[in-house]
Amino acid sequence: MNTLPVVGITGAGSGIGAAIATELSRRGFHVVVTDVNLDSAERLAASLPSADARALDVTSPEQVEEVVGAIVSHHGRLDAWVSNAGVSKMQRFVDISPADLKWNFEINTFGVFYCGQSAARAMMRLGTGGAIVNTASMAAKQGRAPFLADYVASKFAVLGLTQAMALELAPHKIRVNSVCPGFVATPMMDREQTWEAELRGVTVEDVRQGWVNDTPLGRLETPEDVAKVVAFLLSDDAAFVTGEAISVNGGAFMD
Ligand SMILES: NC(=O)c1ccc[n+]([C@@H]2O[C@H](COP(=O)([O-])OP(=O)(O)OC[C@H]3O[C@@H](n4cnc5c(N)ncnc54)[C@H](O)[C@@H]3O)[C@@H](O)[C@H]2O)c1
Repeated sequence: MNTLPVVGITGAGSGIGAAIATELSRRGFHVVVTDVNLDSAERLAASLPSADARALDVTSPEQVEEVVGAIVSHHGRLDAWVSNAGVSKMQRFVDISPADLKWNFEINTFGVFYCGQSAARAMMRLGTGGAIVNTASMAAKQGRAPFLADYVASKFAVLGLTQAMALELAPHKIRVNSVCPGFVATPMMDREQTWEAELRGVTVEDVRQGWVNDTPLGRLETPEDVAKVVAFLLSDDAAFVTGEAISVNGGAFMD
């Protein structure tokens, strides 16, 4: 059995997931870096003191169950799970195809559902309790997110799911929370800046400056800003926090 607490993280080869992996590693976790892109997961795992990498496409419940099972048989424990993988594609609401809607929900919502189920089953079998964090979004709390109607709907669903999971898993000493980032500088944001500039007929710099202007703390968010709050939610400092959706957005949306 691994002597360190073990955490599995999805979509951890890039952006926010990679920062979460790095921060949790710094705080003494053995990190299982998972991503649909195995190369990026392997590169990150190789840079951390105690980590391994696994290919995981969160849209496959069979693959999710298999990976969680492999983590438990390899390490003998599963203390925490972060369902972070997510995608976006900016388009006008009237232009979103059924295929794009399905793709978005399969990763952003169903993926969180499948991972939460498998992680919770494993934690219940082990009887050790645990903590789960789902990466939602500022767009999980307000629909004022232009050209992202499918994304908004998929992320609102994550908050409801988080609450339902928190309620049912509490008797098993498993806490479940969401984190709601704002405008975070990652490859996803780079793609969104370009799409929004095209859709609004402005420059990428105009879009970026608009996001900064919308943020009272006056800068774009870093992946590390999010990672530190995820680490708090997984720690004993948050021992009595469950079913919450914590905003980490520099004040860009206050609820
Ligand atoms: N960047 C932002 O401004 C922002 C704001 C709020 C919320 N978020 C959320 O944060 C999370 C991480 O986003 P990011 O900005 O780091 O994006 P990113 O594109 O940099 O990273 C996303 C990662 O998810 C992986 N991924 C994609 N499809 C997958 C699948 N089917 N199975 C497993 N992994 C898959 C990708 O390979 C990539 O490594 C997402 O859930 C996103 O919705 C991002």
